[in-house]
Amino acid sequence: MNTEMEIKKAANILANAKRTVASCGAGISAESGIATFRDPGGVWEKLNPAEVGTAGGLISTLTRNPHKLIPFFIELLETFQKAEPNPAHLALGELERMGILQTVVTQNIDNLHIEAGSRSVIEVHGNGFRTRCISCGGTERLERKRIIKDTLKKVRKMQEFTIEAIASLLPPCRNCLSPTRPDVVMFGETVKDIPEAFEAARRCDVLLAIGTSGTVYPAAYLPFQAKETGAKVIVVNPNENAFSEVSDVYIPMKAGAAMGEIIKYIRKLTAL
Ligand code: APR
Ligand code: ZN
Repeated sequence: MNTEMEIKKAANILANAKRTVASCGAGISAESGIATFRDPGGVWEKLNPAEVGTAGGLISTLTRNPHKLIPFFIELLETFQKAEPNPAHLALGELERMGILQTVVTQNIDNLHIEAGSRSVIEVHGNGFRTRCISCGGTERLERKRIIKDTLKKVRKMQEFTIEAIASLLPPCRNCLSPTRPDVVMFGETVKDIPEAFEAARRCDVLLAIGTSGTVYPAAYLPFQAKETGAKVIVVNPNENAFSEVSDVYIPMKAGAAMGEIIKYIRKLTAL
């Protein structure tokens, strides 16, 4: 397969698309310095999802054995602090402004699509920089770098990791002053906005799957849903993944590099 040809094919399909949906996973943020989950050296190689993947597991591991988790938590926050949207996030924002991309469905919680200029973003696993009140459910968006800086300062000073101390890391609810938690979906919790995500996949004419292994459902089903309802499926992923049999175009490249090339061709095609 000639990757250059696949890039041009993808650019042609996208330039003529009416309703593209991008379905993104951790891989789109890899070039922003954020580790993926299942690649070598990924999150689930360092941490056991059974211990920290659920809210209960995370709290009990944090309070029972903080010294195992805190260094990783600090490292994760520092990674998120340094992260910036990369050319793949920026390309999706540009495709939306060109009227080619309808919406981004993302499994990522890093806020980078929004900071890259995407306006229509369905965050099926939530957003790590939005708090949710544990009492009234009220949510509040926080400025990513600011909340990370404040949290790192508090964590580095913390002597003990009681539930109260952990709850004090995030600002209380503006409505009822109860403690808040990150508005993210942990294992076993209800994924967000799935009906909207599947409606978008059903109605799109192109589904662009970027940087996801296709391991976690229901998000992993989106490319199959789009294919079933007649869309063309374009996959950008340097490694083999779950979508080989549904992809019309497969680009075995990193997201930033691939989307940087594709957007260049699309600009030329749409300028004609
Ligand atoms: N560009 C594009 N794709 C990449 C890059 C890159 N630079 N680097 C890695 N990838 C690909 C990998 O080949 C892999 O297929 O990104 C994919 C990442 O897969 P996972 O780590 O499984 O991440 P994801 O698919 O987003 O996982 C889904 O699992 O644990 C849960 O909640 C977590 O949202 C996450 C969900
Ligand atoms: Zn509240």
